[in-house]
Amino acid sequence: MRKIACASAGAGAVLVAWAALAAAAGPVVDYPQGYRAWTHVKTALVGPASPSFKQVGGFHHIYANPQAVEGYRTGKFPQGAMLVFDVLQAQDDGKGTTSEGPRRHIDVMQKDSAKFAVTGGWGYGEFRGDSQTERPLDDKAIQACHTCHATAKADSVFSKLRK
Ligand code: HEC
Repeated sequence: MRKIACASAGAGAVLVAWAALAAAAGPVVDYPQGYRAWTHVKTALVGPASPSFKQVGGFHHIYANPQAVEGYRTGKFPQGAMLVFDVLQAQDDGKGTTSEGPRRHIDVMQKDSAKFAVTGGWGYGEFRGDSQTERPLDDKAIQACHTCHATAKADSVFSKLRK
């Protein structure tokens, strides 16, 4: 019995170390309070035919705060601009209607040229499910967001705001 207790305590210690390693050491984005009341930019539905269905299948909504809406208009996103990529599971009722299911996560971009200088003036972050505090990304994952987004022509933003 004692041996098992020791083993599980050991596993616990490893988990704690892993969690510490996974946390971002650099500056982190703010939680986007109230983003569901911001401007809805667009929605995409990732269906079962997608190779990434298991990880990110479902509804992908994008929201923009007022500064970000100005950025879509001018092509240059001002300080304080925030964008949210809201990923929800899809639920098929078998009768032809697909509805939103539980939230998988939200991805966030926040413009602050000084704070996020190392990632091109944009901060990148993720919050798990409906949590405002669980941040699953480490610095390497954040760097990967930046590497891809830096290729977007309009100030690292891919999507467009339709009229
Ligand atoms: C391989 C490229 C790639 C990577 C890596 C990537 N994204 Fe994106 N991201 C995109 C594309 C493409 C879109 C536009 C999707 C659309 O228009 O429906 C997008 C959209 C977004 C948006 C909405 C603003 C915009 O640019 O349209 C946010 C916020 C966002 N991503 C955050 C993140 C975060 C945070 C990460 C890292 C966890 C990340 N992205 C990783 C390609 C990428």
